[in-house]
Parts: sequence; structure tokens; C-alpha cells
Amino acid sequence: MSVKYAETEQATGATKYVGQAIDRVDGPAKTTGEAKFAAEYPYPGLAYAALVHATVPRGRITAIDTAEASAVRGVIDVLTHENAPPMKPAPRTSLLDPSTLASGTPVNYLATDEVHWNGQPVAVVVAETPETARYAASLVRPSYEGLPAAVDLAAEQHNAVPQKGNLLGETSADKGDAQAALAAALHSVDLTFTTPPHNHNAIEPHATTAVWDGDRLTVHEATQSITWMRRHLAQRFGVPEKNVRVLSPYVGGGFGGKGSVWAGTLLAVLAARATGRPVRLALTREGVYHTVGGRTGSIQRVALAADADGALTAILHTSVSRTGRGGGHGEQITAGTRHLYAAPNIHLRQSTVRLDLLPNTFMRAPGESIGTFALESAVDELACELGLDPVELRLRNEPDRDPLGGQKLAHRRLREAYALGAERFGWHERDPRPGAMRDGRWLVGMGVATAYHPSMRMPANVTVRLDADGTVVVRCGLQEMGMGTATVLGQMAADELGVPLASVRVEYGDSDLPVGPGAGGSMQTASAAAGVQDAAAKLKRTLLGLVRRAPGSPLRGRRPDEVEARDGGLYAGAAGQTYAEILKAAGRGHVEVESKAGMLGFVARTLRERRRLVRAATGAQFCEVRVDPDTMEVRVSRWLGVFDVGTVINAKTAASQLRGGIVMGIGMALSEQTLIDHRSGRVMNASLSEYHVPVHADIPHIDVLCLDEPDSTMPMGLRGVGEVSITGVAAAVANAVRHATGRRVLDLPITLDKLL
Ligand code: MOS
Repeated sequence: MSVKYAETEQATGATKYVGQAIDRVDGPAKTTGEAKFAAEYPYPGLAYAALVHATVPRGRITAIDTAEASAVRGVIDVLTHENAPPMKPAPRTSLLDPSTLASGTPVNYLATDEVHWNGQPVAVVVAETPETARYAASLVRPSYEGLPAAVDLAAEQHNAVPQKGNLLGETSADKGDAQAALAAALHSVDLTFTTPPHNHNAIEPHATTAVWDGDRLTVHEATQSITWMRRHLAQRFGVPEKNVRVLSPYVGGGFGGKGSVWAGTLLAVLAARATGRPVRLALTREGVYHTVGGRTGSIQRVALAADADGALTAILHTSVSRTGRGGGHGEQITAGTRHLYAAPNIHLRQSTVRLDLLPNTFMRAPGESIGTFALESAVDELACELGLDPVELRLRNEPDRDPLGGQKLAHRRLREAYALGAERFGWHERDPRPGAMRDGRWLVGMGVATAYHPSMRMPANVTVRLDADGTVVVRCGLQEMGMGTATVLGQMAADELGVPLASVRVEYGDSDLPVGPGAGGSMQTASAAAGVQDAAAKLKRTLLGLVRRAPGSPLRGRRPDEVEARDGGLYAGAAGQTYAEILKAAGRGHVEVESKAGMLGFVARTLRERRRLVRAATGAQFCEVRVDPDTMEVRVSRWLGVFDVGTVINAKTAASQLRGGIVMGIGMALSEQTLIDHRSGRVMNASLSEYHVPVHADIPHIDVLCLDEPDSTMPMGLRGVGEVSITGVAAAVANAVRHATGRRVLDLPITLDKLL
């Protein structure tokens, strides 16, 4: 464990468990195989479904021959647009109801003969075994009338239109006259970057087990939001929301790919309804590539101008990315650029073009991951141009207030992050001349880049129940995808109520629980923290109310603010009662309270806050690479990330989250890319053997440091650790490669052919 803390401050309130490196409570169940995932629930009469995928990027199905597939022994049904029961259309996206974001695409599978991407499901085979279903699916023969398709981002970029802003972020900005300042600049860089599409590769491919009982539906699912999924399924299948139960106690990684409701889920539910059988649909890895969106590719221009001292005089950042003809969301590519550097002239534009490809979707720091690659590469190139140290250039342009809106920057500690990181990484030992540092025959390069991800939270309902035996049950419909959510919620509740962690049980992953936040946008923990704090305060008031008029109670006449929860009870100074004593005195078996939070209040608060302050998790990424001078193979040899994520709730799970983002960022830097055949729109490398995610041998020891200072504007001072650490990573690698070789690679991934 390499988490160390610098400048640790105590968060307000009790901190017995918060901050500790505590093992995941669900660790033993996962390592022993006791934990059951969505594709592992047995049901009597369970049938298995497999998808048939379109092989054209755009067109109409003119005929679909299912005779041969239907004749296979063990096939129960073959569903196509000719015979499938209809689903209702997907709801329109509205940020007032975030569950509408769960619509990965509005394409109404099997209710239409239209094809919107190569890989769109056009039929579902249901059979007695998964092997039979898959084999029969290979025998379904659709015929198509093809239509002209646009699948090449570079070729279509002239058709891009301005991207619309929304509640979560603006998409353009103008301050001063950036073009004029660039033209007049003493020093400048003007670079065009390209990043490829990326696909999701969670360790658990998406899976659904769907069971209808009359008009009641139970779904075991790998999802990042049981709440969104429940509402979406109720809407699509025309049943009341209360009739739908989504269970997702364990999720094998999400990263945004399980934030929406994709074809596999909908078609499993549809197949179960059509056949009257419980149905399981577990996507193959290739099936994930065909039916679950990924990250958009991008073309980005970043131009920077500076005076002789390295003070920025202009920042221009424009981007073209894509959505799908059948849906997808614009990504916030310039989000970091809005807030990172002081400059009198700023010009930002994001635009998107619709392509005939599977719609893009959320993928760890959507927008910021690739946006920071371009911005932070350009900043590094400007440092080269100026002959200035890249850390120093960043510090000289660190703003005191938001560069665009002038808002207060809530708790910005980038200076501290860079100072600490430079010292720990040995940055001062860097010889700035390209190719000057060697280790044997390897060229050595050192690069830095800034990490940035906005920090937000959503409403969360939480109940806390205290039983006579001292057990505390925290209930919230949130999800645990492996990041430690259940563990940190237990830590928070234990501290807030002054009880041992072992006596806290956290219930989650079931849509019958109080409505929780989705696991996305790095928001889940902060959202739930506010609910836990509020519910704990309510519980304390309720318990005090039970005894403050009781004759003989040591808490008699006490006000809530005089009473402290500790040692398993309520105390005013030395006088107090244990929770068991309070319940006994009051003749109660248990007490349960609920904290409720509404969507409208959340929207109002978000808008109010946005006018007042800008809040983000930030960090300084330090990378060292070794480059083989003959083959130009790049190996990442050392990494240090110093992050300002507010209070660290669990030193172990937070470090793992942050480290995981860096690993994913190294994949983005050096190997990950989805290859699309521009003639057919087909993904050419839809497997882990050809889409290269990093393996252990690609990743060095990663040091993670957190400043661990509470952000007083967030619940428990925490900001979210899910996404910030992937941002800046690809730039830090590119900058280290530039230092080692003198070569600036503008196109991800940095494969050796681009250096030879
Ligand atoms: Mo994430 S891309 O918010 O799961």
C-alpha cells in the first residue's frame, strides 16, 4: 500500500473509520466465488438468448429467413421485427429526469426494419441452452437494402454542428479576442490532435436474467443504476414502476458502459415476455462491442499563446466528436480547458457530427479524458517552445478565480499537488534536453500533466435503522461495481453514529431500496454521504426525543446540539446512555429514519452553486517512460499521481480507484483503439486479443498520493475519485515520450510506428 498523506487535516466530526485503509466488505464473497453476478442466477425453466447482429451500417431489412434457425432442436423461439411483441419507444432525454439518460439509443429493437449501425441486433434466438441459442443465431439470414452510410469521423468533420450545452456543462466560451491574441503572440503553438474511438471492456460482460410473473418483472442485471433501469424498463414494457425489480448486488466493473440500458437487457426482457420463460442473455465480448456504446473519437485543435515570461495570452480549444444517428450524448471535451489556466483571451467550441455507428456513451471521464490529452500536450509543447520547465509554466498560469466566469475555485490545491509531486518524483533531476537521459540503451523521458474532473452530486434517499442489539442497517439503492461503495458507506455510518464498523450492515443493489444515486460521474459516494449524514442526524434526534423527557435519564432535558454519538450511544459529556438502553427505556424494538432528497431541489442547488463556485477534483500526473531507440517501443517505467480529491474516506479503495484510472489512461495512451472499417462501419477488432488493454506487464508500480484535505463545500469534504485519475494520463505519457525522443505524437495511441 503506497498511499501516504500530506498535510492531513482532520475532517469535522468523528473520524474513527473514515480515512482508514479498510478492506472491502464484499472482498471475501468475491474472492471465494460466493458472490453471484447477473448471469449466475438459476431459475427453473431458464431459457437462454443470443443476438443476431446486422452486417450493414445503414439500411432496411427486406427479408429475414428464420426457418433454419427455428428448426434446430432446442430452439424455443426466434424473434424478429416480424413477430416480436412491441416495446414502447424510449423516453426523450431530459435532465430533470436523469433516468432518461439511461436510453443508450432510441432505436426500438425488433419493432423496426431500419438498421442504424453495423452490429445492431435484428433478431433474438431463445433456446434451451446458450450453445444452441448461439448456434441457431448464426443460421438466421437477414437480407438488407443498404443505404449510404457515414462512418468516418475525419471525412465527416465538415458536417459537424455546434454541440448544445446543458445543466451539467457549457460547450462553448469566448473571452476577449483569442484569434487576434494568437496572431500577435511572441510565442505560440497551434496543434491538431486526433484520438480514436474506445470500447468498454469491463471484466464482467453485460448480462441479464429476466423473469416475468404476470405483469411483474424481476431483472438480475449488471448495471450502474438500478433506479434508472427500473424506470426505463417500466416505461418500455408498459408496467407500473413498482412492478419492476432490478437486482444488482455485484457488478464486475462499469466505467460508464453499464450506465445506460442497452439492447441485451431490453431484448432479454422482451424474450422472457414473448416466451413465458425466464431468460438469460449474457453478451459475448464481441456482443458488447456491437451493442454497448464506447468513447467517441475526436479531432481537436489547441492553440496557445504566451508572452516572454510564459504568461498565457490566448487559449483556443475546439473539438469535433461524434454521436450516432440513433442517439448518443455530446462529450465535454473542453471542460478542463474552461477552468485550468488563467488567460485574458479564451475561445472554446465543441461540435459533433452524427455517424452511422453504434451511439457513443459515457466512458470514464467522458470528454475530459481526451480533452486533457490535447490541452496538456499543447501546454507541454509550449513549455518546449519557451524553454521553460513544464511544471513552472503551469504554476505561472494557475488562476486565482475561474478564468471564464470569475467564480471562486472551491478548494483548489494544484500548486500543492505539483510541489509535492515534483519533490517525490525527483522532477528536479530531469535534464530538459530531449534524448539527454538514458538508462543503458533505453531513452528515458519524464512528463507531467494536469488531471481535472468536475465534482458533483445527485440526490440520494437513505434510511438508517437501529436495532435493539446495536445493529445499524443503512439502506440505499446504490451500486457496488468493485470500487468499495458498500465499505465506505459503512465507515461513514459507523463514524456518524459512534458504533463499531462490524455492527453496520449496508444494503444496496436492489431497486426496492430507497432511491439512490447512480454510480456515475464520480458522484455516488458524495451523494450517499449527504444522505447518511442527514439520516444519522435524524436518528440521533429521534433517539434523544425518546428519552429527553424520561425521568432518571442521564439525557433528560438535553438539546440535540449538546449530545454526541459515540461508544455505541448518546452522550452529553460523561453522562449518557447506550443505544440499547435508550431503546429499552422507550420500549422500542428498533428505530428507523429516512433522509429524502428531491430532484428539483438538486437542480436548483446545482444551478445556484454553479454561479458561485467551480468545483473539481484535480491532480498532477508524473510519468517516466523508457523508449527503445531502435524499435521505439515505449514502456511506462514509473508513475506518481498526486490528487486533490477532498477527504479520503477509505485510503485503500480510493488508491485502487485512482490507480485504476491511471492504468486505463495508460491503455488510452499506448494501445487502446477501436478500428472501424470505413467501407462497412464494422468494428474490426471486437475482442481482447485485438483491442489491447494494458496487462500487468505493461504497468509499473503506481504511486498515489492524496492531499486529503476536506472540501468544505461537499458532504464529508469528499469530491469523488472515480474519474479524475484517467484525465491527464495520455498527455503525461505523450510528454514523457516527447522528452525521451524529441518527437511530439499528436495522434493516439502512441504506437511505435508513429515514432519510427
Ligand atoms: Mo462514469 S463515465 O461516470 O461511469
